[in-house]
Amino acid sequence: MVSLETDIGGLRLSHPTLMGSGCYGSGDEFAPFVDQTAIGAIVLKSVTRLPRLGNPTPRLVRTPAGMLNAIGLQNPGIDWYVERELPKYAGRACPLVGSVAGFSVDDYAYVCERLAADDAIAAVELNISCPNVASEGETFACDPALAAKVVKTARTTTDKPLIVKLSPNVTDIAAVAVEVESAGADALAVINTVRGMGIDVETWRPRLGNVTGGLSGPAIRPIAVLAVYEVARAVTIPIVGQGGIETVTDALEFFLAGAAAVAIGTANFTDPRTPERIANGLRDYLQQRGIASIREIVGKANVGLADAHEYEGDEG
Ligand SMILES: Cc1cc2nc3c(=O)[nH]c(=O)nc-3n(C[C@H](O)[C@H](O)[C@H](O)COP(=O)(O)O)c2cc1C
Repeated sequence: MVSLETDIGGLRLSHPTLMGSGCYGSGDEFAPFVDQTAIGAIVLKSVTRLPRLGNPTPRLVRTPAGMLNAIGLQNPGIDWYVERELPKYAGRACPLVGSVAGFSVDDYAYVCERLAADDAIAAVELNISCPNVASEGETFACDPALAAKVVKTARTTTDKPLIVKLSPNVTDIAAVAVEVESAGADALAVINTVRGMGIDVETWRPRLGNVTGGLSGPAIRPIAVLAVYEVARAVTIPIVGQGGIETVTDALEFFLAGAAAVAIGTANFTDPRTPERIANGLRDYLQQRGIASIREIVGKANVGLADAHEYEGDEG
């Protein structure tokens, strides 16, 4: 019997598959269709200090290999969330990770503390990388010093595992990861969506009400795998890899690149059984190769044969 158990900075999971924030709700709607005991954890939709109506519609646009979204962090605010939402989440078959978004360092700390204090929440993810809000959404993940400040302050509010979600929309994601690790993060989520835009050629209007949005799905997978690979070489804390995972092969790429777990987002929109399929596929893969645990393959990509330095470059 192979083991799919993993540990994300103190959050012990029976399966290395999380449901990405904003793509699975609290799991309620999916419960009749899927075996949620095959899910490692559900990362809840990001919540802010005050309620938010979100962006003007349209908020979702299909793209050839994924989708653009600009939801704009629609949520009822932390007061309503703690009083009316979280009490409904008791009895889930897997742990729940609360997700925090904010517009100031103080916001993050406040919402983190409120979420972490609730028994329904096993760990907290800091979404410092939302590309879909007009101003500061992503600023925190794009500035290593600011990212560190958010994490340091949030860290003082809880002992529960703290996961920090990084943005791919930076020049050097590893540099941000290093600062965030030093500031006290227990784990990293890599990556959030990639900035994008679509234009309707009939109306000449942007396809999204917000004009720009975040690209997710298979189109971003190679970007995400590289980000995980680079971050894994720079830090020692575990990584939850995500970006375009649809199949067991996709998930395996992330483990080999250095992820200790994966999260599934956009794939849930077309196949809510993706987590179960991937868990079964991982088990078969390990069994066929006589590998006892998923932990044994983390970061084991054999990059020795493809030394870019020999060829003086890595593209073109
Ligand atoms: C419709 C939608 C809403 C999202 N909302 C959030 C959110 O509230 N907080 C967050 O941290 N990430 C959010 N994300 C990002 C996903 O959690 C995930 O990191 C990203 O989409 C990459 O994974 P994927 O390609 O498997 O979707 C959202 C993504 C989508 C598509």
